[in-house]
Amino acid sequence: SSGLVVRAEGQTINPEIRKTEEKVVDSVVVTELSKPLTPYCRCWRSGTFPLCDGSHVKHNKATGDNVGPLLLKKQ
Ligand code: FES
Repeated sequence: SSGLVVRAEGQTINPEIRKTEEKVVDSVVVTELSKPLTPYCRCWRSGTFPLCDGSHVKHNKATGDNVGPLLLKKQ
């Protein structure tokens, strides 16, 4: 087998992590960043992957999912 997992259309990416939250967002504080806030995509739909471009909003609306970016924050 190829090891590929084929997901049905409309199936959420996130099966069980923090499903009571409207959107799962985590942040990591780092000392050196060019910008104060750098969001990294975790929904795999960003046009600027690995950076988040807000495409998770459309994905969440279409599927009922609750995924959001990883935010790297400049300290
Ligand atoms: Fe993927 Fe924002 S576009 S998390």
